[in-house]
Amino acid sequence: MPSFRVAAAHHAYPVVVERGIVGAAAKYLPDRAGKVFVVSSEDVWRHKGDALVKALDGRAYQVLFLPGTEEQKRLAPLEALAEEMVNRGGDRSSVVVAFGGGIVNDMAGFLAAIFMRGIPVVQVPTTLLAQVDASIGGKTAVNLRSGKNLIGSFHPPAAVLIDPAVLDTLPDREFRSGLWEIVKAGIIRDTALFDYLGQHCADVLARRPQAVDHIIAESVRMKVEVVGADEREGDLRRILNFGHTFGHALEAEAGFGQALLHGEAVALGMLMAFDLSARLGLCPKESARRVRQHFEQVGLKTELGLIDADSLLARMRRDKKVKDGRISLILAHDIGQAFISREVTDAALREFLSQQTKTLASATRAH
Ligand SMILES: NC(=O)c1ccc[n+]([C@@H]2O[C@H](COP(=O)([O-])OP(=O)(O)OC[C@H]3O[C@@H](n4cnc5c(N)ncnc54)[C@H](O)[C@@H]3O)[C@@H](O)[C@H]2O)c1
Ligand SMILES: [Zn+2]
Repeated sequence: MPSFRVAAAHHAYPVVVERGIVGAAAKYLPDRAGKVFVVSSEDVWRHKGDALVKALDGRAYQVLFLPGTEEQKRLAPLEALAEEMVNRGGDRSSVVVAFGGGIVNDMAGFLAAIFMRGIPVVQVPTTLLAQVDASIGGKTAVNLRSGKNLIGSFHPPAAVLIDPAVLDTLPDREFRSGLWEIVKAGIIRDTALFDYLGQHCADVLARRPQAVDHIIAESVRMKVEVVGADEREGDLRRILNFGHTFGHALEAEAGFGQALLHGEAVALGMLMAFDLSARLGLCPKESARRVRQHFEQVGLKTELGLIDADSLLARMRRDKKVKDGRISLILAHDIGQAFISREVTDAALREFLSQQTKTLASATRAH
């Protein structure tokens, strides 16, 4: 199975995709590591803790728990955990092993970034979304009341261990939510991955190991390439946000809960980005139609209610990607060809949104 290396300007780290790699976690702890703090959530630990316990057999380590919900992805639990680390003898030689989904990944990563001004973190992602997206690239954050991921820092991990075997207990809806980030990887930069997903859709949805391992490895390859070339989020890395400006606004409107998971919001956002690209004549209508067909094949189910176009637009404006009053959108010239546009006028966007939001709720229920 493939092993990649993020090679950014100031550091490099391995990203290993391999069934069973959790069992070799001890090998990836930095040399001369002092106390090892495994940071997880109770839910993940109950499902998958055994695998890591076996891997760390013979090492001194302690397990600390985060609440693990988006509402509690806040600074306060990190302060409490940092106190606990100090009480248990943590110091500058300590290491964090982040074991969980994207929430644990972001929180434990941020904790490592600020504990004693920064200690290493090994990321061991346990959701599909965290494996192909959140664990790679060194972005860490917690939410503020005023918005998602508004405080955080870049803290590249010492290593990322991606073990597709840990996904076997992941609920189906979470699996599918992560799948949309893989669809995204194909759509923005990798037509071979997009085609593979089309041809092997049934195998992927049935979670056949060969198919799942392949698409994880390919989207990890894509993200590693992009992050290595552009760690600090210039235009290249920003194409990874395809579908996210629309998606985040929808997610916020839906209340960041079970009504719309992150990946589902991104899926709707990607459809919107393609529709807008086609409507503006930037992309062939046929490609937008192919994308929609592909999405129907993967299956998109949400419980989204009616969305108000004006409040969606207001949320998009508040998004941190607004520069000089212009919303920068990631649009597509075709499948595999995403690009950043700062040209879409407010009026065009408002008209597009009001037309889209009318069909959104009914369209999503139909699939
Ligand atoms: N840092 C980044 O670059 C980046 C990128 C994308 C997303 N994110 C962040 O990731 C978060 C979302 O992550 P997520 O989708 O992984 O959600 P999550 O962390 O909430 O995990 C989803 C659910 O799955 C459960 N779970 C995790 N692993 C499991 C397993 N192996 N078996 C059974 N259940 C398991 C969790 O307990 C949780 O209930 C968001 O907060 C988002 O901001 C960060
Ligand atoms: Zn995302």
